[in-house]
Amino acid sequence: MEIHTYEKLWFGAALVLIVAFIATISYGAVGAGISMIDDEGGTVAPDELSEHERFGNPGVYQVNETHYEVNAIAAQFAYQPRNLEVPANSTIDFYITSRDVIHSYSIVDTNVNLKVIPGQISKVTVEFDEPMESAIICNEYCGDQHHFMETGFTVVPEEEWDDDEIPSVDEMGGDA
Ligand code: CUA
Repeated sequence: MEIHTYEKLWFGAALVLIVAFIATISYGAVGAGISMIDDEGGTVAPDELSEHERFGNPGVYQVNETHYEVNAIAAQFAYQPRNLEVPANSTIDFYITSRDVIHSYSIVDTNVNLKVIPGQISKVTVEFDEPMESAIICNEYCGDQHHFMETGFTVVPEEEWDDDEIPSVDEMGGDA
Protein backbone atom coordinates (compact mmCIF):
# COMPACT_ATOMS: atom_id res chain seq x y z
CA MET A 1 0.00 0.00 0.00
CA GLU A 2 1.36 3.36 -0.93
CA ILE A 3 0.79 6.38 1.32
CA HIS A 4 1.12 9.75 -0.34
CA THR A 5 3.90 11.96 1.01
CA TYR A 6 1.50 14.80 1.91
CA GLU A 7 -0.75 12.35 3.72
CA LYS A 8 2.23 11.21 5.80
CA LEU A 9 3.07 14.83 6.57
CA TRP A 10 -0.46 15.62 7.75
CA PHE A 11 -0.52 12.41 9.74
CA GLY A 12 2.70 13.46 11.47
CA ALA A 13 1.41 16.99 12.12
CA ALA A 14 -1.81 15.64 13.65
CA LEU A 15 0.19 13.35 15.91
CA VAL A 16 2.37 16.26 17.10
CA LEU A 17 -0.78 18.29 17.86
CA ILE A 18 -2.33 15.49 19.90
CA VAL A 19 0.84 15.07 21.94
CA ALA A 20 1.07 18.86 22.45
CA PHE A 21 -2.56 19.07 23.61
CA ILE A 22 -2.06 16.25 26.12
CA ALA A 23 1.12 17.97 27.35
CA THR A 24 -0.59 21.34 27.89
CA ILE A 25 -3.53 19.75 29.72
CA SER A 26 -1.15 17.74 31.91
CA TYR A 27 0.85 20.88 32.68
CA GLY A 28 -2.31 22.81 33.55
CA ALA A 29 -3.49 20.01 35.84
CA VAL A 30 -0.29 19.44 37.82
CA GLY A 31 2.41 21.93 36.82
CA ALA A 32 0.75 25.33 37.06
CA GLY A 33 -0.42 25.02 40.67
CA ILE A 34 -4.07 25.04 39.75
CA SER A 35 -6.36 23.34 42.22
CA MET A 36 -10.07 23.12 42.72
CA ILE A 37 -11.81 24.26 45.88
CA ASP A 38 -12.94 21.32 47.98
CA ASP A 39 -15.21 21.22 51.03
CA GLU A 40 -12.33 21.75 53.49
CA GLY A 41 -13.65 25.21 54.46
CA GLY A 42 -16.94 23.79 55.72
CA THR A 43 -20.39 25.33 55.69
CA VAL A 44 -21.99 28.41 57.22
CA ALA A 45 -25.50 29.88 57.52
CA PRO A 46 -25.55 32.85 55.08
CA ASP A 47 -28.11 34.80 57.14
CA GLU A 48 -26.14 34.43 60.39
CA LEU A 49 -22.76 35.71 59.24
CA SER A 50 -22.76 38.59 61.73
CA GLU A 51 -22.76 36.08 64.60
CA HIS A 52 -20.23 33.77 62.99
CA GLU A 53 -16.81 33.52 64.62
CA ARG A 54 -15.00 34.06 61.33
CA PHE A 55 -17.35 36.38 59.51
CA GLY A 56 -18.72 38.54 62.32
CA ASN A 57 -15.81 40.92 61.84
CA PRO A 58 -14.20 40.23 58.46
CA GLY A 59 -10.57 41.18 57.95
CA VAL A 60 -6.95 40.12 58.33
CA TYR A 61 -5.88 38.08 61.36
CA GLN A 62 -2.38 37.04 62.29
CA VAL A 63 -1.33 33.43 62.92
CA ASN A 64 2.42 34.08 63.26
CA GLU A 65 5.15 36.31 61.78
CA THR A 66 4.61 35.17 58.20
CA HIS A 67 1.19 33.55 58.31
CA TYR A 68 -2.19 35.30 58.24
CA GLU A 69 -5.83 34.48 57.76
CA VAL A 70 -8.23 36.60 55.72
CA ASN A 71 -11.96 36.29 56.42
CA ALA A 72 -14.00 37.94 53.69
CA ILE A 73 -17.62 38.18 52.61
CA ALA A 74 -18.90 38.74 49.09
CA ALA A 75 -22.37 40.29 48.81
CA GLN A 76 -24.42 42.25 46.31
CA PHE A 77 -22.50 44.40 45.45
CA ALA A 78 -19.38 44.75 47.56
CA TYR A 79 -16.71 42.85 49.41
CA GLN A 80 -15.91 42.96 53.09
CA PRO A 81 -13.25 43.92 53.95
CA ARG A 82 -12.70 46.62 51.36
CA ASN A 83 -9.20 47.49 50.11
CA LEU A 84 -7.52 44.42 51.50
CA GLU A 85 -3.86 44.71 52.46
CA VAL A 86 -1.51 41.83 53.24
CA PRO A 87 2.28 41.86 53.73
CA ALA A 88 4.84 40.59 51.22
CA ASN A 89 6.66 37.32 51.98
CA SER A 90 3.61 35.91 53.68
CA THR A 91 1.29 32.94 53.53
CA ILE A 92 -2.39 33.80 53.54
CA ASP A 93 -5.29 31.44 54.22
CA PHE A 94 -8.36 32.92 52.59
CA TYR A 95 -11.77 32.02 54.00
CA ILE A 96 -14.50 33.48 51.78
CA THR A 97 -18.25 33.14 51.80
CA SER A 98 -21.27 34.85 50.29
CA ARG A 99 -24.16 36.58 52.01
CA ASP A 100 -26.61 36.17 49.12
CA VAL A 101 -25.87 34.74 45.66
CA ILE A 102 -22.92 33.16 43.87
CA HIS A 103 -20.01 35.57 43.38
CA SER A 104 -16.32 35.13 42.78
CA TYR A 105 -13.28 36.39 44.63
CA SER A 106 -10.75 36.94 41.91
CA ILE A 107 -7.48 38.77 42.48
CA VAL A 108 -6.29 40.31 39.22
CA ASP A 109 -2.77 39.25 38.07
CA THR A 110 -2.69 36.28 40.45
CA ASN A 111 -4.06 32.77 40.08
CA VAL A 112 -6.60 33.41 42.87
CA ASN A 113 -10.01 32.96 41.26
CA LEU A 114 -12.44 31.54 43.82
CA LYS A 115 -16.08 30.79 43.31
CA VAL A 116 -17.98 31.99 46.37
CA ILE A 117 -21.19 30.14 47.19
CA PRO A 118 -23.71 31.09 49.91
CA GLY A 119 -23.63 28.45 52.66
CA GLN A 120 -20.10 27.33 51.75
CA ILE A 121 -16.72 28.59 52.91
CA SER A 122 -14.18 28.66 50.10
CA LYS A 123 -10.71 28.15 51.53
CA VAL A 124 -7.45 28.61 49.69
CA THR A 125 -3.86 29.20 50.79
CA VAL A 126 -1.71 31.61 48.81
CA GLU A 127 1.88 32.81 49.17
CA PHE A 128 2.64 36.41 48.27
CA ASP A 129 6.36 37.02 47.74
CA GLU A 130 6.51 40.40 46.01
CA PRO A 131 4.70 43.67 46.76
CA MET A 132 1.94 44.39 44.27
CA GLU A 133 -1.06 46.65 43.65
CA SER A 134 -4.07 44.86 42.30
CA ALA A 135 -7.82 44.54 42.65
CA ILE A 136 -10.39 42.00 43.76
CA ILE A 137 -13.16 41.55 41.20
CA CYS A 138 -16.22 39.35 40.71
CA ASN A 139 -16.23 36.97 37.75
CA GLU A 140 -19.70 35.51 38.34
CA TYR A 141 -22.66 37.48 37.06
CA CYS A 142 -24.52 38.29 40.31
CA GLY A 143 -26.99 41.05 39.43
CA ASP A 144 -27.36 44.43 37.77
CA GLN A 145 -24.41 45.99 39.60
CA HIS A 146 -22.10 43.02 39.17
CA HIS A 147 -19.57 45.19 37.34
CA PHE A 148 -19.24 47.52 40.37
CA MET A 149 -17.98 44.69 42.59
CA GLU A 150 -14.39 45.73 42.83
CA THR A 151 -12.10 46.66 45.66
CA GLY A 152 -8.38 47.20 46.07
CA PHE A 153 -5.84 44.52 46.87
CA THR A 154 -2.32 45.46 47.96
CA VAL A 155 0.65 43.33 48.93
CA VAL A 156 2.51 45.79 51.14
CA PRO A 157 6.36 45.78 51.29
CA GLU A 158 7.51 44.17 54.55
CA GLU A 159 9.21 47.35 55.82
CA GLU A 160 5.91 49.26 55.51
CA TRP A 161 3.83 46.61 57.25
CA ASP A 162 2.94 46.91 60.92
CA ASP A 163 1.79 43.76 62.70
CA ASP A 164 0.72 45.82 65.72
CA GLU A 165 -2.43 46.86 63.85
CA ILE A 166 -3.37 43.27 63.02
CA PRO A 167 -5.46 41.27 65.51
CA SER A 168 -4.35 37.75 66.33
CA VAL A 169 -6.48 34.78 65.23
CA ASP A 170 -7.20 34.27 68.93
CA GLU A 171 -9.12 37.54 68.90
CA MET A 172 -11.47 36.37 66.18
CA GLY A 173 -15.07 36.42 67.31
CA GLY A 174 -18.58 37.18 66.20
CA ASP A 175 -19.46 39.83 68.75
CA ALA A 176 -16.86 42.38 67.72
CU1 CUA B 1 -20.60 39.53 42.54
CU2 CUA B 1 -20.64 39.51 40.19
